Amino acid sequence: MSRYKGLINPDIIPKHIAIIMDGNGRWAQKRSLPRTEGHKRGADVIEPLMDASIKLGIKTVSLFAFSVENWSRPKLEVKELWDLLKYYFQNNIERIKKKNIRIIHSGSTRRLPPSTKKIIQNAVDETKKNRKIVLNFCVNYGGRQDIVDGVNKWLKNRKPDEQLSVKKLERNLYTSGLPEVDLMIRTSGEFRISNFLLWQLAYAELVFMDVLWPDFNESHLYEAIYQYQQRERRFGKI
Ligand code: FPP
Repeated sequence: MSRYKGLINPDIIPKHIAIIMDGNGRWAQKRSLPRTEGHKRGADVIEPLMDASIKLGIKTVSLFAFSVENWSRPKLEVKELWDLLKYYFQNNIERIKKKNIRIIHSGSTRRLPPSTKKIIQNAVDETKKNRKIVLNFCVNYGGRQDIVDGVNKWLKNRKPDEQLSVKKLERNLYTSGLPEVDLMIRTSGEFRISNFLLWQLAYAELVFMDVLWPDFNESHLYEAIYQYQQRERRFGKI
């Protein structure tokens, strides 16, 4: 039992948590396993994470599964990540549906392999009526690209002399309609945002944890939420 579980205040649960699932490669290297084994074990963490999030009453979980920068990894690792994504959805979609989880995708579909695109679209379509929790898969995602794509989308329907506003841009981001991120967790002891949800993290509390993603469990989630609850959120006020 986590020592943090009993310390959590049920009245200040974050609505939206975003996670940089870092450290898969190091987890595998430490065991002399191929890096892909780390990614596989990392994918196995997602379901227990969602179960715990549902129990806590979290409404949205955003996961950074593949960044626009990840294309510069060795070709084989990139291919194996796409294979894993396909395998994951093929094998889990029925359970995801039963658990009333809605999948959404944040990221560009431009460079995605057609079969990956199809499998993600299928997961989004199959779960669009689910209401318990949103699982926002950030795949081929970059925070800067999100903002640029959002501006370009807005420009397409812009009236002459119309000006862009915060609200208008938000409606055109990949995360349109999601609540603001309250808590961002990064595992593996790195202290960076790495181009993840740059706009959406504006007022998020950041928690960096010294655990490699495949070792992340319910107790780490409770600990992160406990840390979040100790912070004073002022949103620019005094
Ligand atoms: C970062 O660890 C992790 C990634 C680039 C990929 C994250 C993907 C998963 C957890 C699995 C995705 C889930 C599905 C369903 C496909 P790293 O490889 O950068 O680790 P390192 O910093 O230790 O090398």
